[in-house]
Amino acid sequence: MAKWRCSSPISSQAQVRRLAEQALARLPRIDVLINNVGGYWNTRHVTVDGLERIFALDHLVPFLLTNLLLDRITHSAPARVITVSSNAQAMGRIRLDDLQGASAYSGAEAYNQSKLANILFTYELARRLAGTAVTANALHPGLVHTSFGAEDPGRTQRLLVPVLRPFMKSPAGGAAMSIRLAVAPELRHVSGRYFARGRPKRSARSSYDETLAARLWQTSANLVGLTLGRRQS
Ligand SMILES: NC(=O)c1ccc[n+]([C@@H]2O[C@H](COP(=O)([O-])OP(=O)(O)OC[C@H]3O[C@@H](n4cnc5c(N)ncnc54)[C@H](OP(=O)(O)O)[C@@H]3O)[C@@H](O)[C@H]2O)c1
Repeated sequence: MAKWRCSSPISSQAQVRRLAEQALARLPRIDVLINNVGGYWNTRHVTVDGLERIFALDHLVPFLLTNLLLDRITHSAPARVITVSSNAQAMGRIRLDDLQGASAYSGAEAYNQSKLANILFTYELARRLAGTAVTANALHPGLVHTSFGAEDPGRTQRLLVPVLRPFMKSPAGGAAMSIRLAVAPELRHVSGRYFARGRPKRSARSSYDETLAARLWQTSANLVGLTLGRRQS
């Protein structure tokens, strides 16, 4: 299996589209897509596309990239799409009227919302892929010692991380659940699930709201210029 990893920072949708083009040019098959990308900023930043940065990076990048690669992934079936969410999803609320925190911003609320959006996206993707041999699952990696959020941490992070550091997983340990979802033979037919601590777990109640998922999908598609989950011609 060829492995390919994006190494340049993505800060615009044009870069996501370039990344997808490069992947499609280099990879005749895509057996596994792991959407690991994520970030946290305590203060509100806006991307070159004019979108709030956490929502743009944590939700819209996986949404757009997956959709741009979906035909290749489907033609490579059996295949798996894995999206790294967080237990922060449990505190998330999707504010369709203000997805980008334009009227009131909190880094924690933006992050929780985006991690819930990862789950709604995963469940909706699994429904859309029903009947194919492509699965879609999401996961919480655990508390992992990385530089996550270090650029612009919130007060809670500044206080808690030093205390929690001895109990955090190594980056390799944090990747274990993603890798298991990517390769475990016993999970090849499992789709539309959220995993934490090595097993399926119920996610936030609103993550099972199919109407909300469809509305978020449509809104996300509009924000990245896709029609019905496919790139506009
Ligand atoms: N750390 C935790 O305790 C924890 C807990 C729950 C969930 N998570 C989730 O786990 C995932 C990985 O986070 P991490 O802890 O490993 O943090 P990290 O070390 O900061 O890695 C973040 C990931 O996002 C990528 N990334 C960040 N900004 C990017 C950008 N502008 N363009 C392209 N890629 C970008 C990074 O790529 P590079 O490697 O190239 O920098 C890396 O793959 C995230 O989705 C996060 O929400 C983490």
